[in-house]
Amino acid sequence: MREEIIGKAAEFLKTELNKTVGFTDRTPRMVEYRIEHSFRVAHIAREIAKAEGFDEERMYVAALLHDIGYVKQYESPKDSSNHGREGAKIARLFFKSLGYSDAEVEEMCYGIAIHVDDTSDFEGEKTPFAITIGDADNIDRFDVYRIYEGLEFLKFSELPLSEQITLADKRINKLKQLREYPFGTKTGDKMWHEKVDFQLEFFNRLKNQLEKSDIEY
Ligand SMILES: [Fe+2]
Ligand SMILES: [Fe+2]
Repeated sequence: MREEIIGKAAEFLKTELNKTVGFTDRTPRMVEYRIEHSFRVAHIAREIAKAEGFDEERMYVAALLHDIGYVKQYESPKDSSNHGREGAKIARLFFKSLGYSDAEVEEMCYGIAIHVDDTSDFEGEKTPFAITIGDADNIDRFDVYRIYEGLEFLKFSELPLSEQITLADKRINKLKQLREYPFGTKTGDKMWHEKVDFQLEFFNRLKNQLEKSDIEY
């Protein structure tokens, strides 16, 4: 990986996203989180690239900018699901400025465009490289931070026991479905199962513990 290219991509990400502090849907911490998440996704994508023989630098740069579409303000969650397609438009110009070929740029942009809902507004091919951008995003989104964040968001500790058990149960069922989600590479698939299996273990143990919190028949 060329240090100069990585530095430029990191600078672009930070500069552009920091401009969004103050948007109605953006606190300073949320913007910081988005930047931190982007670096983690780039790190995961690079690991996959290394194991699968993809260009590590190009993968790192593409994954680093996968959420660059958040430079726009979105009015609703439905609207924000366009951040992949919007991000591809913004990233395209930047990737070209780094000197990547048109075909390389298109593959990077296609991966960014489809990473949210598997839908692009331009023609492209779902190559393992392109799919890996969304795979790396999902791998980070299902790591331990989100277990904590999800429970905090739902104010889990304030819920009555019965609702806590229901919630753990729902999460277990959802994770079982998500576990079968198709990934673009064997390496991505392996990393995904490692994250989901940890969450399944966590929520199964949580449910088990909670179920012992009342009289037994
Ligand atoms: Fe995203
Ligand atoms: Fe993301």
